[in-house]
Amino acid sequence: PAALRSLLAARIRDVPDHPRKGVTFKDITPLLADPAAFGALTETLAELCHRHGATKVVGLEARGFILAAPVAVRAGLGFVPVRKAGKLPGATLGQAYDLEYGSAEIEIHAEDLESGDRVMVIDDVLATGGTAEASLSLIRRAGAEVAGVAVLMELSFLDGRRRLEPGLSGAPLEVLLTV
Ligand code: PRP
Ligand code: MG
Repeated sequence: PAALRSLLAARIRDVPDHPRKGVTFKDITPLLADPAAFGALTETLAELCHRHGATKVVGLEARGFILAAPVAVRAGLGFVPVRKAGKLPGATLGQAYDLEYGSAEIEIHAEDLESGDRVMVIDDVLATGGTAEASLSLIRRAGAEVAGVAVLMELSFLDGRRRLEPGLSGAPLEVLLTV
């Protein structure tokens, strides 16, 4: 609803020329510091998990962890971290994805998901969609289904939504704020 959107939008700070000249960074730390806004965000995302029939919540390191962990607790679901490569100690599945310059890799503990699980992926921002798309591939390779992807913000000018379109590799996309 509009009231939630304005509560959230008022607590996101535009930082010009960060981390590079010409890029406007969307800083969510004012939102995290405001219990009313962070609480409303958590509540809304937990409802979305239930609406999509999720059985697990995946958070994408690092900013996705901050949003997804309280959502998992609120929704009564298990939390599963998707980490940058090299951090998880157990048997992992890995997936590379493209960055503006070069590439990166994320990993999941294969044993944290099982067939029959329906996973909601939570992150702060959908930009090019590379991170979210890679996470869907990890979830499916771990034998689980994707319930959806939920983000606080979509940077619509980057059209990351295109990479999550329904079909073989896509998933329902829930966006709270469009920039
Ligand atoms: C940022 C953001 C998303 C991702 C979106 O994470 O938090 O996870 O980029 O970009 P994409 O849609 O183009 O893949 P980043 O890896 O920069 O850093 P973080 O560890 O602070 O979350
Ligand atoms: Mg991130």
